[in-house]
Amino acid sequence: MKAMKRKVFPDREHKMTAGTWREELTFAGSTMGLFYDRRAKNYDTLVHLLSLGMDGHYRRIAVQRLQVRPGDRVLDLGCGTGLDLPLLSRKVGPQGAVTGFDLSKEMLGLARQRIHQSGLGNIFLIQGNALELPFARNSFQAVFCNYLLSTVPAGPVIEEVFRIARPGAALLFADDRLPSGWFASPLRAMGEFFRRGYYNYGLEGAEILRKRLSSLTVTNHHGGLIFILSGIFRG
Ligand SMILES: C[S@@+](CC[C@H](N)C(=O)[O-])C[C@H]1O[C@@H](n2cnc3c(N)ncnc32)[C@H](O)[C@@H]1O
Repeated sequence: MKAMKRKVFPDREHKMTAGTWREELTFAGSTMGLFYDRRAKNYDTLVHLLSLGMDGHYRRIAVQRLQVRPGDRVLDLGCGTGLDLPLLSRKVGPQGAVTGFDLSKEMLGLARQRIHQSGLGNIFLIQGNALELPFARNSFQAVFCNYLLSTVPAGPVIEEVFRIARPGAALLFADDRLPSGWFASPLRAMGEFFRRGYYNYGLEGAEILRKRLSSLTVTNHHGGLIFILSGIFRG
C-alpha cells in the first residue's frame, strides 16, 4: 500500500481569516518555522514583486532611522533571509556586532549565504523563537524588527524586546498593513484587503511602545501600507 504523505499544513490554511492567521501559526512555533522553511527560496522575489520593487528603498529608510552608533550590538529580530543584515552590519562597523535571529532554518540558511557573499565579519545567526529570546537582560544597544509584528502576537514579542534591550537602546519595528497571511496566499489576502481594508498592526505595537519609549516616531509609507515605529527605550 502506498504510504500517505503527511500534510504539514492543513487545507484550512488557505481559508484562514486575517484574525485567525497569527494565532494558528504562531503558537505552534514549529509550524510557523516550517511555513517559512517551505517558502524561503521564493521569499526575496515575492517581497520584491509585492512591493513593486520598493522594498529595498524602505529597508534603507528603516535602517537609517535606527539610532545606532559604530560599535553597538544590534539584534535583527526575525531577520529572515537577511535582507537587512548587510545594511545593519555596515552601520555599526567592524567594532560592532549584528545578531540575526529567526525561527526558520531555511530562511537562516539563505541569510548565511548572503553574509558569506558580502564578506562581512560582524554578523552572527541564531535560530529560535521571538517569544522566548535566549538572551540576558540588557544584551543589546539596538533592536531592529522588520516584517515580524504581523506574524507574531505583537504584545508578548515587544515585551521580550524590552527585557533584552538596554535602557537607552534604539528600537525599530516596521511592517506592512496587508492582511495577515498574504505571504501564504497573496490572492486571498488581496481579496481580504479589498473587503476589509488595512489591518493596523502598527497600532497594536504603538500602544505598547508609547508607554516605554522616551520618544516614538510613527511614519507611513507606500500609500499607508508600510509603517515604521521607532524610538529610544526608557528602560
Ligand atoms: C515576513 S518575514 C520577515 C523577514 C525579514 N525581517 C525581512 O524584512 O525580510 C518574517 C520572518 O519572521 C520569522 N518568524 C516568524 N515567527 C517567528 C518567531 N516566533 N520567532 C522568530 N522568528 C519568527 C519567520 O521565520 C520569517 O523569517
